[in-house]
Amino acid sequence: MRLVLVGPPGAGKGTQAQFVASNLSIPKISTGDIFRANVSGGTELGKLAKEYMDRGDLVPDEVTIAMVRDRLAEKDAQDGFLLDGFPRNVPQAEILKKILAEFGAGLDLVLELVVDDEEVVRRLAGRRTCSQCGRIWHVDFDDKKDDVCDACNGKLYQRDDDKEETVRHRLEVYQEQTAPLVSFYADEGILVGVDATGPVEEVTRRAMEALSPYAG
Ligand code: AP5
Ligand code: MG
Repeated sequence: MRLVLVGPPGAGKGTQAQFVASNLSIPKISTGDIFRANVSGGTELGKLAKEYMDRGDLVPDEVTIAMVRDRLAEKDAQDGFLLDGFPRNVPQAEILKKILAEFGAGLDLVLELVVDDEEVVRRLAGRRTCSQCGRIWHVDFDDKKDDVCDACNGKLYQRDDDKEETVRHRLEVYQEQTAPLVSFYADEGILVGVDATGPVEEVTRRAMEALSPYAG
């Protein structure tokens, strides 16, 4: 299955991607995660991306697209993948279509995680990420009193772009540049909206239900 998760910052794309991708045995490809790995590795790509990410702006398309093209050419992505955070605007969506057509493939489905702005700010203010395995936690919803990952004992950190001011800007960028993808994919007939409020497991259940007519 070739899937895309779309939704505002904090909608739970990364959280749901880890469960949905594992349920479907496909790789989860998150452009945000790849950029952050480059930032912490101190690569040239990381240095460039950090400038944009810290402001809450999109990294330039040519850089992002080249990175995704390389990742999709890897062996584990040949029979399916779940993209989290890409595409992020209509030009990226158009190019993704072309890249997949080169492999003789296309997207099966785009899941839109639907949640309002206040919930997003609440979720991002308490987000913690594991520096070792990348698993996503929340200080209140997961009752995390320490800074240690329950899955691997790695140290948890708070993302630099989760300051309230930057979150508000990321939401504006989402409305301006990413939200148009909803009608883009609705026109293609492959968009399904999923209510992303309520407990994590409940959202995963809704997402799997939305996917079930297309899976297998
Ligand atoms: P990216 O990393 O993709 O950030 P984002 O889209 O802003 O999304 P987030 O990761 O903040 O939120 P999420 O939806 O994954 O939520 P999560 O599951 O963590 O991108 C970062 C930056 O990289 C961009 O700003 C840009 O600069 C650059 N970039 C990336 N892709 C790009 C592209 N294609 N083009 C150009 N630039 C690009 O959940 C959030 C919190 O809520 C967590 O604490 C979680 O535990 C909690 N939570 C989740 N679900 C629930 C629930 N149901 N109930 C309660 N809490 C929940
Ligand atoms: Mg994420």
